[in-house]
Amino acid sequence: MMQLLPLALHLSMVCLVLAAGAGKFKFNVTTSEVVRDDEDGGRIRGVRSRENATFVLGGLFPIHTHSADPSQGSACGDIRQERGLERMEAMLFAIDTINADPDLLPGVDLGYDIRDTCNSETVGLDEAIDLIITGSNLNIESCEALPDASPAVNGTVPYAAVPTSGIVGAAGSGVSVPVASLGRLFRMPQVSYASTSPLLTDRSRYGYFRRTVPSDDLQALAMIDILQHFNWNYVSILHSEDTYGSAGINEFVNVSATNNICIDLRRGIPPTFSEREYDSLVEDLRLSRARVVIIFANQESVGEVLTRVNRDETMRRNFTWIASDAWARSIDLVHQFNDTAAGLFGVAPLTEHLPAFEDITGNSITFDESGSVDGFYEILNYQANFSASGGVSYKFVSVGTWVSGNVGEQLILKDNVPLQFGLMSDGAPRTEPVESGCGGCMPGEYIRKIPGSCCSICEPCLGRNYSSQPLAKNCSTCFVEEVREMWGNSPTTGSNSCIPLPMVSPMYSDPWAIPSLILACIGLIFVAFTAVIFVIFRKTAIVKSSGREQMTLLLIGIACSFILPFFYVAPPSIPVCLVNRLGIWFCYSLMFGALAIKVQRVARIFYGVKRNLTYTPRFVSPPFQVSFTLIIVGVQMLVIVVSLAFIHPEVLHLYPFDENTLKEPEVIVTCQQESIAVLVLSLLYETAIITVATVLGAFSFKYPENFNEAKYISFCTFSLLVVWLGLIPTYFTTQSRPEIQNAAVSLFIILSAFGVLCFIFGPKLIIILFQPERNSTHFSTHHTINDPDSGVKMNTLGSQGSSKLTHSESANYSTQEAGNGARKKELPTNEL
Ligand SMILES: *[C@@H]1O[C@H](CO)[C@@H](O)[C@H](O)[C@H]1NC(C)=O
Ligand SMILES: *[C@@H]1O[C@H](CO)[C@@H](O)[C@H](O)[C@H]1NC(C)=O
Ligand SMILES: *[C@@H]1O[C@H](CO)[C@@H](O)[C@H](O)[C@H]1NC(C)=O
Ligand SMILES: *[C@@H]1O[C@H](CO)[C@@H](O)[C@H](O)[C@H]1NC(C)=O
Ligand SMILES: *[C@@H]1O[C@H](CO)[C@@H](O)[C@H](O)[C@H]1NC(C)=O
Ligand SMILES: *[C@@H]1O[C@H](CO)[C@@H](O)[C@H](O)[C@H]1NC(C)=O
Ligand SMILES: *[C@@H]1O[C@H](CO)[C@@H](O)[C@H](O)[C@H]1NC(C)=O
Ligand SMILES: *[C@@H]1O[C@H](CO)[C@@H](O)[C@H](O)[C@H]1NC(C)=O
Ligand SMILES: *[C@@H]1O[C@H](CO)[C@@H](O)[C@H](O)[C@H]1NC(C)=O
Repeated sequence: MMQLLPLALHLSMVCLVLAAGAGKFKFNVTTSEVVRDDEDGGRIRGVRSRENATFVLGGLFPIHTHSADPSQGSACGDIRQERGLERMEAMLFAIDTINADPDLLPGVDLGYDIRDTCNSETVGLDEAIDLIITGSNLNIESCEALPDASPAVNGTVPYAAVPTSGIVGAAGSGVSVPVASLGRLFRMPQVSYASTSPLLTDRSRYGYFRRTVPSDDLQALAMIDILQHFNWNYVSILHSEDTYGSAGINEFVNVSATNNICIDLRRGIPPTFSEREYDSLVEDLRLSRARVVIIFANQESVGEVLTRVNRDETMRRNFTWIASDAWARSIDLVHQFNDTAAGLFGVAPLTEHLPAFEDITGNSITFDESGSVDGFYEILNYQANFSASGGVSYKFVSVGTWVSGNVGEQLILKDNVPLQFGLMSDGAPRTEPVESGCGGCMPGEYIRKIPGSCCSICEPCLGRNYSSQPLAKNCSTCFVEEVREMWGNSPTTGSNSCIPLPMVSPMYSDPWAIPSLILACIGLIFVAFTAVIFVIFRKTAIVKSSGREQMTLLLIGIACSFILPFFYVAPPSIPVCLVNRLGIWFCYSLMFGALAIKVQRVARIFYGVKRNLTYTPRFVSPPFQVSFTLIIVGVQMLVIVVSLAFIHPEVLHLYPFDENTLKEPEVIVTCQQESIAVLVLSLLYETAIITVATVLGAFSFKYPENFNEAKYISFCTFSLLVVWLGLIPTYFTTQSRPEIQNAAVSLFIILSAFGVLCFIFGPKLIIILFQPERNSTHFSTHHTINDPDSGVKMNTLGSQGSSKLTHSESANYSTQEAGNGARKKELPTNEL
């Protein structure tokens, strides 16, 4: 053990040269012996020079790559120029330099024995055993000490007898770990120049292992600092499933959790990964939302992944890669994928080019208690350089450092070196960091936690919702401000403020409303005209005989129906809504009721006449008729008034917002609708009344030819029934468009009113105005049916004149009933 520390110092000097200047030096091989493999086709296993050495240093270098398919024979693949051969040259150069320099280790002549590990655990372990037993007194096969072996002292014994004093290497942690286990067994000091796995910090298992590179714990910290510097908190991770990748990534994951970095995709790549598995891994990358991908893997795996990404036009420029030290400087590798690799950030142990080695004398190396060194990383950026001639070249640019130690951890990016973050779709370098974040929500969005994920996503505040602040946890809702309905300013993509909404309400200028209003005005003029005529000719027979009370009720119903549209298309307010709710039922029940009472009276009288009944039907006098009509209206109104207590007349504001359309929403202002139960009840009630009226009216077709008014009434009730049956479906199908519904209902009610006006009042008006000879003013109020004069007169005058209904009835009766003059039947004259 006493010898161990100075030796470790020698080894580490060699290693520092290796780490610093790999590839720069040419060694002198003239004194080297080439070690060959007798079995594996004479493969070169390494070079050595042990003769006359004071100490022999073993070396383990990955001169060749690990064979892609070891079952095919050799475990070794292609030669590795940069990270294998050149590093070996550096070791030889270091030994030459030490031997040649009288000030460095005076009196010591260093020999070497360098072997190729082919980056393989098994090959590396074989070579390590060979190094350990060569020149030692061990026979590994027999487990016995060799008889004549003694430790070499100063080169006076044959070289084969000089034992290996220590081992430089290996490169990959995957090889270093088993070698370090072996080294502990044989108390063989080992110093690695490149093995960064945190596993190797375990002193109890790898007590003879030291390294001149920082442990990957520190690399993970450096990566985290880079991610935080660019606000990348949503990343994917790929790692090789070996001691290097797994341990490194464990550390990264551990640290990332406490730094609010969310890992989207995390995939291990075992050495046995198949082509298809690589394909599916890259497919997962495509689906991931993370734009930054950390690859903590050996170069072979990185090559497989980048080849696939590079092949796909749609994704090759979409990622910013963070390279671990295993490939952070691999210019050979990334040169194959310039488009894809452009903008990658590499974290690599800092190397310095030491032109005059000023192994050096001033530098000292301090191992910490875990046998590693302080972190000292270089941050590299793979950048495109566009020349004036249009050509483009790519190279690694050192953009900063990351150091750890007594001062703490620090990422220092050089101010004067611009960074590149990959290529944009037009091929120009991207100078701003890509966004790979979660939770950085803008105004107009809110943060939604994804269950089972460390990440949250930004969701837009839609419709009436908005968020005015970034990083909002939820949306606020726009409320009514100063009587204006408010809405998000961008309801389909996410709003950050509220704006007043355009309001849509029924109004007089509406194209739907205008026809109703014109018709209603015309109707009102007719009503007024009819009323005036009836008042002027109130003394004439036709007016007197038509039943003043019932005609007045009907005319009120008609007028009501013409007035109602003015409320239906009016801008909603509580009075307007109240009138709408009451009005339609009042108008209809008044019209239907008055007609139905009129029809049933005629029907009953004629029924009586036909059956030769001698008594006058009961309840046919005007007070009864008016009372019955008002009862019909009253029942209807009672239902409606009661319903008002439950569903108040209110102005509603509807928001028919549809997230699937980009149509700007509008507030539809409308009246609170009648409850569906009351609606159905009222519809049934009115339908029943008009149906009964129509059925009774239909019997009147069997009445004598010239009993015209009865026919007109039945035409009227029939047309009302038709209009009414048209109104019901129209009402329900236009429910979602209140302005159309109101206009439609208005039109139907106007039609009904016109129907009543034409059929009931029209014929009388014609007689009053154009056939005054049929309207005798001396018509007595009491008339007998066997008045031959009037009876004949009616018959000869034809049938239009419904004015002398009493005459018609009586005349008709007298002729039909075979002139039975003896029978006298008195009918009230001023009815029907
Ligand atoms: C290599 O070594 C030989 C013999 O020791 C010496 O003559 C020669 O100059 C050396 N070459 C270099 C490049 O150092
Ligand atoms: C080793 O030493 C012997 C005797 O001193 C000498 O003859 C021989 O050349 C030396 N070998 C080398 C490789 O220097
Ligand atoms: C080692 O070399 C020195 C001279 O360099 C010599 O005096 C000494 O005897 C040698 N040791 C052995 C064990 O041969
Ligand atoms: C993660 O880090 C904490 C301290 O930061 C440590 O206690 C824990 O053992 C680590 N876990 C792993 C799996 O490395
Ligand atoms: C890559 O980025 C472009 C532009 O940002 C995008 O259109 C494309 O869909 C992305 N490809 C993948 C696979 O995400
Ligand atoms: C870009 O390349 C040109 C030569 O092609 C070179 O002169 C220039 O220094 C390079 N720029 C950078 C930033 O490397
Ligand atoms: C990538 O860039 C390097 C250096 O500019 C160049 O040598 C290499 O050919 C490029 N690779 C490809 C595939 O274009
Ligand atoms: C608006 O936000 C509320 C809760 O804040 C939510 O219930 C509602 O669904 C949101 N509306 C839309 C259209 O996103
Ligand atoms: C919205 O977030 C605030 C705090 O940011 C909270 O007080 C409130 O309860 C949240 N509202 C809903 C509906 O989640």
